[in-house]
Amino acid sequence: MSSLDGFVTLFEASFREEIGKIRETSPRRLYEPIAYSLTIGGKRLRPALMLYAASMFSESVEEVLPAAMAIEIFHNFTLLHDDIMDKAELRRGLPTVHMKYSENVAILSGDAMSILAFKYFIGGNNERLSDLLSLFSVTALEVCEGQQMDMDFEKADQVSIEQYLEMIRLKTAVLIACSLKTGALIAGANPAEADMLYEYGINVGLAFQLQDDWLDVYGDPEVFGKKQGGDICANKKTFLLLKAIEKCDPDSLSELNSWLLKQDFDPLQKVAVITAIYEKTGVSKATRDLMHHYYTKALGALEEITISVQHKETLVAFADEAMVRVK
Ligand code: IPE
Ligand code: IPE
Ligand code: MG
Ligand code: MG
Ligand code: MG
Repeated sequence: MSSLDGFVTLFEASFREEIGKIRETSPRRLYEPIAYSLTIGGKRLRPALMLYAASMFSESVEEVLPAAMAIEIFHNFTLLHDDIMDKAELRRGLPTVHMKYSENVAILSGDAMSILAFKYFIGGNNERLSDLLSLFSVTALEVCEGQQMDMDFEKADQVSIEQYLEMIRLKTAVLIACSLKTGALIAGANPAEADMLYEYGINVGLAFQLQDDWLDVYGDPEVFGKKQGGDICANKKTFLLLKAIEKCDPDSLSELNSWLLKQDFDPLQKVAVITAIYEKTGVSKATRDLMHHYYTKALGALEEITISVQHKETLVAFADEAMVRVK
């Protein structure tokens, strides 16, 4: 995303060096998959946001780099395990770690990454470390809670939109919010400023996950880098599915339910039928409307803190880009 490009570049330069060290560590079978997952792409949004938040309050953002690496490693750990749980074969256009290596490798390399994340975080050696570590640990646990809810919902008959929103707040939004808050606090922001950035991050994060759900159906798989309709095949209770259930006529509802119950199915056929129901019920527009609601809330949070016009413009631009991202 262009508004944070400079911070992505800054991050990449140091991160690449660290990945090099990780790749060389023994046993290779543990560390090589970690290096693989960290080098096959990724937008680096969370570290870039952390560095950007720091830059709002301090001239030297380098001191944020260990925490920025920690958050990116943690994010990629969640993806390794998420891809096992979601039975995903592709990520960033390449085989997922459990497909390329094995499920056991993805489990253990993922475990190591979650620990490595804390190792880097502690390396930051900030005077607020205890508070920051507490925020990071709470956030990490919340992501697990969200992921469990996500899996529980696959099997649940009734999931409300409110439950869905809480699930995506936990699995996705809190890590984005935590990145902003951590960067701000390391750079000396006061708690009120850091909390407002957290609030901005939560709302951008909710819109971000809604867009992710939308891209699963409507994205260009070549660009998005994940298999199209993966959520549909896994009976993920995305906003699109929940809205379709709410809006469709009785005939379409029974057709939808019959597909949700099928154990053996042709994935392409299931995706085609359910996408057709999405078309009929207009859930694409409903998703975009809800995203816009959170976009407006994110911008509203920025009104609550005194920041320069330039900083505000960058954060608005980032929210704009999150609304239309294609990967
Ligand atoms: C993917 O996050 C997982 C979600 C929270 C939707 P990103 O879209 O930030 O993934 P990468 O790191 O850029 O591939
Ligand atoms: C992302 O959920 C949440 C986490 C990985 C924590 P998804 O399952 O929708 O993410 P993608 O689409 O596989 O990246
Ligand atoms: Mg998932
Ligand atoms: Mg997934
Ligand atoms: Mg997804």
